[in-house]
Amino acid sequence: MKAIETIRWDDDTSSIVLIDQTMLPLSYRVVRCRTVDRLITAIRRLEVRGAPALGVAGAYGAALAAGTVKEKEFPRYLEKVETAARAIAHARPTAVNLSWGVQRVLSRINRSGSIAEARLLSLKEAHRVAEEDSRSCHAIGDHGSTLIADGSTVLTHCNAGALACREWGTALGIIRSAIESGKEVKVIACETRPLLQGARLTAWELKRDNIGVTVIPDSAAASLMRSGGIDCVVVGADRITHDAVFNKVGTYMHAICARAHSLPFYVAAPLSTFDPVHGSSEIVIEERDRDEVAFYGGHATVPEGVPVRNPAFDATPLELVSAIVSESGVHRPPLDWDEIARTRRVI
Ligand code: MRU
Repeated sequence: MKAIETIRWDDDTSSIVLIDQTMLPLSYRVVRCRTVDRLITAIRRLEVRGAPALGVAGAYGAALAAGTVKEKEFPRYLEKVETAARAIAHARPTAVNLSWGVQRVLSRINRSGSIAEARLLSLKEAHRVAEEDSRSCHAIGDHGSTLIADGSTVLTHCNAGALACREWGTALGIIRSAIESGKEVKVIACETRPLLQGARLTAWELKRDNIGVTVIPDSAAASLMRSGGIDCVVVGADRITHDAVFNKVGTYMHAICARAHSLPFYVAAPLSTFDPVHGSSEIVIEERDRDEVAFYGGHATVPEGVPVRNPAFDATPLELVSAIVSESGVHRPPLDWDEIARTRRVI
């Protein structure tokens, strides 16, 4: 399989280089973020997206802030870097990985004794976050592939693949690892209205790897499950709290349908996506622009003046989840949060 490098740091230009995911599958273009403001725009426009990739973007973003803040006096420098890094962390509210990635680097910066040291350590820590993401995805793939039977057809929603991580993917990482281990696996990708991450991105990256993928409208999932066309559901996550999995809107619907048809519903996510301190009622679900729903291909599809709701994520109660696969193994609800917190520290 040909590696996709979704996000990387470029030493020559001291910038973050991203695949522009708004342009796929029409064209493959990379964008270069040399400033914190440009990175925030890239995050808000979903040029870079997907929880683990946002974690890496947050980490490199904090390093970018450390490298670009112009201030000679050290304590003042730290304050300015922190303000810029916090702005990155708040660019999108739901995926916990973004603020986690920022925080990983900020805590290194705060322990340094000079501007030069802060710049050096921040980039080092950001590289570590990026490398850990790759390792986690491959470990998730290895653990998760044991859940996938040979000859399976797997339904997935949104894009939890290489494009949502530094590479390989979480949900699609499981599929890639299962195929690498010799199993035959086919994928049903829900198109994922309104921004079509399933149709545009999941289908693009699986086709590139010659993995059999069929795109369906989101609303076709239930009847396909009923007719026996799906063996299990595997999705990613943006945040996992004590009581729920937050993922792309529509995930909850698939979980209910999977339960109604006695199909396993699996979630794949690195430990950086677990949020041990919040309950689901405290989590802000990002509400995106009206036009994403009210226009299609440049044409209005909703009469002017009619209100639209556009929540980007939903919360699936843990009771509907058969297992969560992280880099430390397969966790079956009820989750052992003490063990997760312990492993999270060690890894
Ligand atoms: O709005 P997006 O495209 O950032 O939403 C992404 C998702 O919901 C993914 O399923 C999730 O981040 C898991 S990615 C491994």
